[in-house]
Amino acid sequence: MEILRIEKLNAGVGDNIIIRDINLKLFTRESILLLGPNASGKSTLLNSIAGNPRIKIFNGSIFYNNEDITSLDPVKRNEKGISIMIQNPPRLRGVKTRKLFDKICSRHIKSIVEREKEINEISKALQIQHLLDRDYGHGFSGGELKRAELATLIFSRPRLALIDEPDSGVDIDSIIIMATVIKDHLMNNIDGMILVTHTGGIVKYIETSRSYVIYNGRIIYEGETSYVLSKIFSEGFRSLLESR
Ligand SMILES: Nc1ncnc2c1ncn2[C@@H]1O[C@H](COP(=O)(O)OP(=O)(O)OP(=O)(O)O)[C@@H](O)[C@H]1O
Ligand SMILES: [Mg+2]
Repeated sequence: MEILRIEKLNAGVGDNIIIRDINLKLFTRESILLLGPNASGKSTLLNSIAGNPRIKIFNGSIFYNNEDITSLDPVKRNEKGISIMIQNPPRLRGVKTRKLFDKICSRHIKSIVEREKEINEISKALQIQHLLDRDYGHGFSGGELKRAELATLIFSRPRLALIDEPDSGVDIDSIIIMATVIKDHLMNNIDGMILVTHTGGIVKYIETSRSYVIYNGRIIYEGETSYVLSKIFSEGFRSLLESR
């Protein structure tokens, strides 16, 4: 069964079309990669699915579990189980990390004790306990911020997880920590996942069936992950454009 189907999507910001004629499918229990060079439109596509109001949909449709969600607001999409780990999260002055985590957990867990348990378990697994009593994002290193963002995604208990570049600017130890948490605490409980990367740092640790490659706002290739990765890492993204 399809969990997500995108048909002929054109989307952008203001009057600028950034992604064009996007067709994409995600089947139940599938995890896929979305690859592409800088500025190719990966974040724009992911944010279109999450319903970011900054993104304007010009044409086309997005179906989630066969329901047309193209014009549904982001809060309703989130209630239906779509969650995104955004690439550049905001820093929240005056909001303690523990408080933010507790607020997100409270949507699914009524008991304070159970929430504390969940927050402690995930924070320990992601090695971010030392951040819990600090303002969210303030003074966090790049890797700490990515791990904290992954925690928020897990606390939101998504059905469809959209993960934007967990591995860019992050050391190998942090990548392994995040990959382990994604496998142990996320992948068992979701219907589908789209993982965005351009460095490919995380792909060794998380198995994905298929990959889409986006280039200049268009999907230029869709295929088996192992083939796509070997082609990209030996010959670059352009090679897929030329081999079509
Ligand atoms: N508000 C905006 N106004 C105009 N152009 C924008 C705006 N936001 C994004 N863009 C442009 O859209 C293009 C695609 O951006 P996007 O963030 O989707 O790329 P990306 O593939 O995620 O890149 P990266 O790998 O660097 O994260 C870029 O050229 C970017 O400058
Ligand atoms: Mg991006």
